[in-house]
Amino acid sequence: MARGTQECLRYTLAMTNREFKLAARPVGMPKESDFSLVEAAMPVVGDGQALVKTAYLSVDPYMRGRITGIRTYADPVNIGDVMEAGTVGEVVESKFPGLAQGDFVHSNWGWQEYAALPGNALRKLDPKLAPVSTALGVLGMPGMTAYFGLLDICKPQAGETVLVSGAAGAVGSLVGQIAKIQGCRAVGIAGTDDKIAWLVNELGFDAAFNYKTTSDYAGKLKELCPKGVDCYFDNVGGSVTDAVFGQMNTFGRVSICGQISQYNLEKPEPGPRLLGYMLVKQLKVEGFIVSRFTNRWMEGIGAMAKWLAEGKIKYREEVVEGFENTVRAFIGMLKGDNTGKMLVKV
Ligand SMILES: NC(=O)c1ccc[n+]([C@@H]2O[C@H](COP(=O)([O-])OP(=O)(O)OC[C@H]3O[C@@H](n4cnc5c(N)ncnc54)[C@H](OP(=O)(O)O)[C@@H]3O)[C@@H](O)[C@H]2O)c1
Repeated sequence: MARGTQECLRYTLAMTNREFKLAARPVGMPKESDFSLVEAAMPVVGDGQALVKTAYLSVDPYMRGRITGIRTYADPVNIGDVMEAGTVGEVVESKFPGLAQGDFVHSNWGWQEYAALPGNALRKLDPKLAPVSTALGVLGMPGMTAYFGLLDICKPQAGETVLVSGAAGAVGSLVGQIAKIQGCRAVGIAGTDDKIAWLVNELGFDAAFNYKTTSDYAGKLKELCPKGVDCYFDNVGGSVTDAVFGQMNTFGRVSICGQISQYNLEKPEPGPRLLGYMLVKQLKVEGFIVSRFTNRWMEGIGAMAKWLAEGKIKYREEVVEGFENTVRAFIGMLKGDNTGKMLVKV
């Protein structure tokens, strides 16, 4: 059967859409019952729109914040809403002049199998540049978080030591590699021995340690960062980060990217007072949300794509198969099941 006929059959067979909606606000670690998988009417394509079939969808730590019901830097997802998420899909019908059936596009239509969206809200992908799934990882939001969060906020200089927590995840694994490209010593912190081996043996980190099997963080940091830490890219917060502040060098820079160790706590953890380190070491500590760099997105994508093509950046994807396994993938990512970017292949 010709490919076009096969595609036609596949698209006409799906009569309904499937969506994951928020069913309850999680307490502590999210549970599968906090979400409901529902059938919905197939979206209808209006003028200027395209109907897309989801190929990959993203599960990310920021989603934990969106389902708490509290407005952070963005509005929360309400009970009964489709979960918000970055997505990549294939155009199955187009009433938008710039897109045709078979094109792959990226946007944020959430945890659902189909969506009809204005064509100008969809970014067309070039499958020859890289696999389309990378639009959710190394050539997408996590990649831009690593790129701008390290280069613009920490401004690492050759010869300096860059330390990154959450080092084996989507963002952290890229931060260490970008630090190496800048001529820095890259040191990582992650949660399994396999992740540590991947960072050092495959990605070229100079050193890394497992925070779950290390009791004396300060001692380990002194051993692996003998000249102290000039740049710290913080993905996790909590006791790991508390220990890092004592190892920062004078005029060190700290990029506060994420605090995942705190996202599922039922009660806030009392922390030590770190401002004294900031004073005596004259540190620059800056939080950032990657959307502040939206107007420079193509600069970051271009740089990452070039490093990827040159073999200077490697990436890994942890792909969970099947739309119905989306919530399992999300919870798994929060628990550390992923090495590199956690994705769902629909
Ligand atoms: N500021 C921004 O604009 C922005 C944008 C994107 C992401 N972020 C933040 O960046 C961080 C990384 O995001 P990502 O997408 O790259 O996720 P990721 O690192 O691919 O996945 C999350 C990882 O967090 C680790 N983790 C879970 N609980 C932890 C704990 N209690 N202590 C330490 N580590 C823990 C797990 O790895 P282990 O096995 O190592 O524990 C897990 O694999 C998150 O904090 C996220 O919120 C911020």
